[in-house]
Amino acid sequence: MMQQKFSATLMLLLRYGIEQEYTLLQKDVNWPLGWPLGGFPGPQGPYYCGVGADKAYGRDIVDAHYKACVYAGINISGINGEVMPGQWEFQVGPSVGISAGDEVWAARYILERITELAGAIVSFDPKPIPGDWNGAGAHTNYSTKSMREEGGYEVIKKAIEKLGLRHKEHIAAYGKGNERRLTGKHETADINTFSWGVANRGSSVRVGRDTEKQGKGYFEDRRPASNMDPYVVTSMIAETTILWKP
Ligand SMILES: *[C@@H]1O[C@H](CO)[C@@H](O)[C@H](O)[C@H]1NC(C)=O
Ligand SMILES: *[C@@H]1O[C@H](CO)[C@@H](O)[C@H](O)[C@H]1NC(C)=O
Repeated sequence: MMQQKFSATLMLLLRYGIEQEYTLLQKDVNWPLGWPLGGFPGPQGPYYCGVGADKAYGRDIVDAHYKACVYAGINISGINGEVMPGQWEFQVGPSVGISAGDEVWAARYILERITELAGAIVSFDPKPIPGDWNGAGAHTNYSTKSMREEGGYEVIKKAIEKLGLRHKEHIAAYGKGNERRLTGKHETADINTFSWGVANRGSSVRVGRDTEKQGKGYFEDRRPASNMDPYVVTSMIAETTILWKP
């Protein structure tokens, strides 16, 4: 889609940062790593960026994946333990244009290979465990050249307004089963309503405090599910904010 509609030069002006969340499962039982069989761990709270054998399950996999990505030349920029135990994320970027899709896709493949070696299963399901457990997303940071320059915040606000007008189309393309995740709880916005806010994790689109303060920067689309197609999501954000006319 992007290749047909955008010139190579224009694509070089687009920057993305993608957070890929995922859940590690025990083989055969489809139950998160570290969780007692047939039971639940203690409630969410101590696990986010947690350390220790009772909080971080699968770090050997996560670290091996990080190193393999660096070795493969992927612009992996970090990893951390997530809110739900057994859930992790890695970040890729800043990536230029269509290479954001390439980098996420290759990093996912490497993760599959590492988990295979470790005898664990990686799940990209947006809500692997129903109930009071966080789901898994693929938050996508995005900017154009004009958003990063003086007066960029005005360009950002116009772009977000256009995203709001095409909310349904974006949701339809942002991953299967996302309705189980975007409930308005667990740091998500309700799937049926578009919203945005500064430093608001409960909105569809978040603008960082730094961007507001500096009057330029980027914004984060928090709607994509962990199982999204990164080529579809990155190209659609660019298409709506640059080419689409309301
Ligand atoms: C995306 O932006 C948020 C701030 O809005 C930041 O905390 C996060 O690290 C960024 N992620 C990536 C992958 O760039
Ligand atoms: C990583 O980032 C650098 C600098 O932005 C870029 O030249 C390189 O192509 C990126 N790597 C990949 C795999 O996209």
